[in-house]
Amino acid sequence: MKVVLGPASAELGEKISQLTGMEKVPVAAKAFPDGESYVRLEGNVQGEHVVVVQTTCAPQDSRLMQLAFMAAAAKRNNAKKVTAVVPYLAYARQDKIFLQGENVSIETVARMLNAAGVDELITVNVHQEKTLKQFPFPAKTLSAIPLLAEYFIQKGIKKAFALSPDKGAMYIAQQAQQVLGGEAGHLEKQRDRYTGQTSQTAQGLNVKGQTVIIFDDIISTGGTIVGAAKILREQGAAHVYTACVHALLIGDAEKRILDAGVEEIVGTDSVPSKASKVSLAPLIAEALKAL
Ligand code: R5P
Repeated sequence: MKVVLGPASAELGEKISQLTGMEKVPVAAKAFPDGESYVRLEGNVQGEHVVVVQTTCAPQDSRLMQLAFMAAAAKRNNAKKVTAVVPYLAYARQDKIFLQGENVSIETVARMLNAAGVDELITVNVHQEKTLKQFPFPAKTLSAIPLLAEYFIQKGIKKAFALSPDKGAMYIAQQAQQVLGGEAGHLEKQRDRYTGQTSQTAQGLNVKGQTVIIFDDIISTGGTIVGAAKILREQGAAHVYTACVHALLIGDAEKRILDAGVEEIVGTDSVPSKASKVSLAPLIAEALKAL
């Protein structure tokens, strides 16, 4: 097996190559003056099972095109099989029709990747696991939540309260609880499908005097975490942290979260940023060794 270092995740790809001992294939990438993407595999992939590591956080569309082009280039150069490792899978939140006239975007993305040459896909904490069952090739999701929780243990924080900002993500809080050894709970979140505005409430939650870590799959605008932090402050939590797998941190999200009293934002290298304090490399390396 060889690891293709997608331009959006070259550093992560290097780490995966080191941990697995798989030879790496560098990629030359550029954007033409009109914005079109260009990639070239700088290694021989003939007869190889190729692992293309490429996240698809912003700019999502060009990163998806790069991924499709790398998969197609691998097949064109006679790779035996292409496994796409896509730590952050763009468009996964549009996994069903919410309003009439919409598209199931993630389904279209999967078909596009399949047509390009992707034979299987590994992602991390996809928004809804069931989405992957509709893909035209085998696809699985890994969970980085234990690694994130372990970060806080290493920091000396034990028995923290693991909170998910909505009921649907309670499984995330429970995974964190297994590592942290404290309590777990969730808020209730409602979203207006037209405006995108969310509101949160706490029912039967008591975190007075506790250290609380808000776990989520994604932080985008930060609105969810800011809303949760406000409730926790009102309840008298002693310390509030947040950890998420995909820290998109759009616009001034980081500042708004810190201003809301959150002491630290911890993310992974699925989205490279200064919040990327936990690497996904060991998790992905294990999954690749098991293929
Ligand atoms: C939504 O259900 C996700 O799990 C996240 O809670 C959401 O994407 C976060 O978005 P934002 O940071 O914009 O509130």
